[in-house]
Amino acid sequence: MTKPSEKEIEFAKGLEGVVATTTQVGSVDGTAGKLAYRGYDVNDLAEHSTYEETVYLLLYGALPTRSELAGFTDKLVGYRTVPEEALARIRDLPCPCHPMSMLRSGISLLECIDDACRIAENLESKQDAGIQLIGQMATLAAAISRILEQKPPVAPDPELSHAGNFLYMLSGRQPEPLAERVMDIALILHADHGMNASTFASMVVASTLSDIHSAVSSGIATLKGSLHGGANERVIRMLEQFSTPEEALAYVDKAMENKEKIMGFGHRVYKTYDPRARIFQRYARDLSELTGDMKLYNVAEAIEKKVVATLGHKGILPNVDFYSGIIYHALGIDATLFTPIFAVSRVAGWVARIMEYLENNRLFRPRAVYVGPEDLPYIPIDQRG
Ligand SMILES: CC(C)(COP(=O)(O)OP(=O)(O)OC[C@H]1O[C@@H](n2cnc3c(N)ncnc32)[C@H](O)[C@@H]1OP(=O)(O)O)[C@@H](O)C(=O)NCCC(=O)NCCS
Repeated sequence: MTKPSEKEIEFAKGLEGVVATTTQVGSVDGTAGKLAYRGYDVNDLAEHSTYEETVYLLLYGALPTRSELAGFTDKLVGYRTVPEEALARIRDLPCPCHPMSMLRSGISLLECIDDACRIAENLESKQDAGIQLIGQMATLAAAISRILEQKPPVAPDPELSHAGNFLYMLSGRQPEPLAERVMDIALILHADHGMNASTFASMVVASTLSDIHSAVSSGIATLKGSLHGGANERVIRMLEQFSTPEEALAYVDKAMENKEKIMGFGHRVYKTYDPRARIFQRYARDLSELTGDMKLYNVAEAIEKKVVATLGHKGILPNVDFYSGIIYHALGIDATLFTPIFAVSRVAGWVARIMEYLENNRLFRPRAVYVGPEDLPYIPIDQRG
C-alpha cells in the first residue's frame, strides 16, 4: 500500500479550526471582532466592571449581586498571601531567569507547600484551589518583580482592589486612581480568550485529572512563548529601538521584505481588529499624553498605519499585545513583567474553563498520522555508516 503524502492527509495543522469542546465561558467572533465573557461584551465589561466581578462572572456564569460580590472579593483577598517558604525558595532560584519561569516555578512550589492544594481532588476543592491561585498569582508576580529588583516583597493590602493591590505590591506605593483603573481594565481584557494555546494546554493537563496547580503551571509555560503572551514584551522591545516614527517605518519595510513577522500583529482567530487592541490603544494614547512621553505611542501608531495599509487585507491587524505594553510602560512597569501580568489575569480564564470541562471530563487525546519510513531492519551500531 502506498502511503499518502502529508499533503493528501486531511488534518488541521496546529489544530486550526478543530472544535474540541463546547463552552459557556466565553466566545470570540474573529470575523465581527467581538469578544464576550458569558455573553457580555468585553467593551461593556471594560467600561463598567471590575476584575473581581469579571472573575466571578467567568467562574459562576452570572454577574454577582452586591452581597455575592462582597463575599467573593473577601475570599479572593483572603487568598492573596503567598507563604514565606515559597518566596524564600523563589529568591534562591539560580537566577537570572525570566519572571515567567519564576512564576511557573512559584506555582509548582505552592502545590508542594500547600497541604490543602495537594488534597484538592474533588471538583469543589479543585475550584477552591483555583480561586486561591487567582488570588496568589498577583502576589507572586509582584514578589518576583521585587526580588529581581533586590527589594523585599510587599505584603498584600486587604483594603485595595485586586488591580490596586497588584500595583501597590509592585512599587510599595498606593496607586493613583487612574493607574488602578487602567490596570483593572487590563486585567479584565486579558481574563479569557477562547481556546487559546495556554487555555488548551491547561485543559489538557486538567483532563488527565492532574491537580490544578500543574494545569495552571502548564498554562504559564505556554503563555510564555512569543507567539502567544510573550509577544507583549517583544513588542515593547521592538518599539524601544526607534527614536522616530521614520526609523520604525524603515524597520517595517525591511521586516516585510524579509517576510519576518512583526510582533503584536496577526491572530489565529481575529481576521479583523482585535477589540481589546482598540481599547488598549485609547488608554495607551491617553496615558502617554498624561505622562508627556509620546515617543513609544507615536512610533506604535506609525507602525500600525503601515502594517494595516500593507497587510490589513490579509487580516494582519494589531492584536491585544500591540498597545498593552505602552500602558504598562507608562505605569512604570518593567518589560519583563508584561507577560506575567497577562498570567495574573488569564489564570481566571484557565480556572473557569478547566472547571467547566471537568464537570464532563474526557481525556484530550488527538492522533498524529505517521508519515515516516516503516519496517526498517535493525542495523548493529558497528555497521552504521
Ligand atoms: C499570532 C499568529 C501566530 C497567528 O498566526 P496564524 O494564524 O498561525 O497565521 P500564520 O503565522 O500562518 O500567518 C499567515 C500569513 O500572515 C503573515 N503574518 C501573520 N502574522 C504576521 C505578522 N505579525 N507580521 C507579518 N506577517 C504576518 C504570515 O507571514 C503568513 O503570510 P503568508 O501567507 O504570506 O505565508 C501570527 O499572526 C504571529 O506570529 N503574530 C506575531 C506574534 C504575536 O503578536 N502574537 C500574539 C498573538 S495574540
